[in-house]
Amino acid sequence: TPNLIVTEDYAAMSRIACDIVMGQLAQRPDSVLGLATGGTPVGLYAQLCDRHADLSRTAVFNLDEYYPLSRQHPQSFYQFMKQHVYDSLKPLSWDIPDGEADDIIRECARYETAIRESGGLDLQVLGVGRNGHIGFNEPGTSFASRTRLVSLKQETVEDNARFFENASLVPLQAVTMGIATILEAKSIMLLASGSAKAEALRQLFYGRVSTEVPVTALRLHPNVHVIADRQAAALL
Ligand code: GLP
Repeated sequence: TPNLIVTEDYAAMSRIACDIVMGQLAQRPDSVLGLATGGTPVGLYAQLCDRHADLSRTAVFNLDEYYPLSRQHPQSFYQFMKQHVYDSLKPLSWDIPDGEADDIIRECARYETAIRESGGLDLQVLGVGRNGHIGFNEPGTSFASRTRLVSLKQETVEDNARFFENASLVPLQAVTMGIATILEAKSIMLLASGSAKAEALRQLFYGRVSTEVPVTALRLHPNVHVIADRQAAALL
């Protein structure tokens, strides 16, 4: 089972997450990091900026990107990462699936190859969806899945609508690392904040390992840290 750290609140979750990332960078400045979008890791990214994390030898890959969506669109994950991380921390390199690639199959293959050729992910940061999705791997996703084009569930579109002017503007598809891609990371850190994530965490720790709840795939990985605030950990 994953290691669990429960914190008082969101700020403390973000600080501990930052400690773990800084620890990884101290141990290996040329680490390969996998980063996530969503509201949850924003505090971690702010901490990394405040503490001037040195990413000058670090390669970063992003979990996912909407499709189809221009990189210039303010709600693209490309812009999100640029704004919250890359503009200030300037990693050695960063890569994210291209949400406007003409040949998306080829783009997915390119992304898998780029991760592999970097030496593989040392630490993957994850959030979790209300329905237990990781990246954009929705319930029903094979644990053997790799980077590919997926359709979003209605509840995921609704949850992410808050970032768009209205729900009809949320793309209905995305390109995401697969579960197998994520499980190949040497270590994984999952962040969860707020009561909406409590059931997903209960499934992660106590539910049956099942493709119906993608986050339970993390039970198959030997090195997972879950940092949850009290509300997210309420059912543990
Ligand atoms: C999106 C992202 C996930 C993220 C999830 C939860 O669907 N693709 O990577 O974990 O939302 O988002 P939030 O952290 O905003 O709750």
